[in-house]
Amino acid sequence: MGLLRLCWLLLGALAAGSAQLYFEKVRSVTLDICNSSAIIPCIVTNLILRRTNVTFVKWKLQGSEFFAYDGVVDKVTRNITFQSANLLDLSLLPQGTASLVLSREEALPGNYTCDVAESNREGDTIVELIRVSAPWFKPTEISFIIATMVVAVVLYFSQSAVVAMKFDMTLSKKIGLIFAGLIIIFLAVIGIVLFLPEGYSSSQRTGLALIVVPAFILVPLLYFLFTSVFEKQPLFAIILVALKAIGYIIAVAGFALCVLACPPKQGSVMIAGLAIIDIVAAIGLIYLIVIGGSSLKDHQPPRKAVEESLNDAKGVMLQ
Ligand SMILES: *[C@@H]1O[C@H](CO)[C@@H](O)[C@H](O)[C@H]1NC(C)=O
Ligand SMILES: *[C@@H]1O[C@H](CO)[C@@H](O)[C@H](O)[C@H]1NC(C)=O
Repeated sequence: MGLLRLCWLLLGALAAGSAQLYFEKVRSVTLDICNSSAIIPCIVTNLILRRTNVTFVKWKLQGSEFFAYDGVVDKVTRNITFQSANLLDLSLLPQGTASLVLSREEALPGNYTCDVAESNREGDTIVELIRVSAPWFKPTEISFIIATMVVAVVLYFSQSAVVAMKFDMTLSKKIGLIFAGLIIIFLAVIGIVLFLPEGYSSSQRTGLALIVVPAFILVPLLYFLFTSVFEKQPLFAIILVALKAIGYIIAVAGFALCVLACPPKQGSVMIAGLAIIDIVAAIGLIYLIVIGGSSLKDHQPPRKAVEESLNDAKGVMLQ
């Protein structure tokens, strides 16, 4: 009659087991780069009274208590180093949800103990918080993004130098070209400083924006350089400017995908756009060198036209 005895024992345990609270078993939760906060789950499955004013919750990390909620007086106490700690939703506590929310910064890895008491019944459960530090971009991608910007700026200054040497250009136009280049460098350097630290915070995203978005200036600048060379733009120059604009649009679309989705999967789209910008710039540089070297006379516009375009340019600069 061993079986019957076991049944009686089990029934007895269930009846008397009213002293014990049970939990949904969650062994661990993972905090990755995309979590702005950590939710550590703790759900009691056998509450009976279901009233906040008889419920107590305690949270411990590695055995030491840092958060407590006393339902009798409706009061929270927390350790100074866990100022963000809070119950996920106090209104869900009567249903058994005693899950904890922590800010990303305060969510230290380790074993968290959730201790719940309802009147004289009590129980606890342990959940391990694991932090994984998968970076937003791989180091190769970061190197590539920075390299494309450096190359874009170098090519821009090379193009400007070629045009300045081979074709007539006023001092104010030269200063304007240098100034535009310096703005791009300035914004990109700030962007890189913000972007480099590991993470996915708003400062990293702002940094990436400062690297990618100002590259737009390079599109009208390329057109501007061509207007100093040609009185009437040849089709090839127009195609180059258009391709550069397309490269820019792809880069910005890729940037938007990177910033909106986490984990970002479209880093390659942005990098492809930046690469197109560089390739077009390189072709543009070769084109300018060829035009400036071989067939200068054929292409150089009449003096009057040059002056007109210079005056236009000055007007543009002064605005
Ligand atoms: C982090 O976010 C993921 C996806 O939203 C979620 O499944 C996971 O529980 C979160 N981790 C923590 C610790 O809150
Ligand atoms: C948490 O507890 C588990 C199981 O006891 C153990 O394997 C793990 O190493 C602990 N983690 C930490 C950070 O102490």
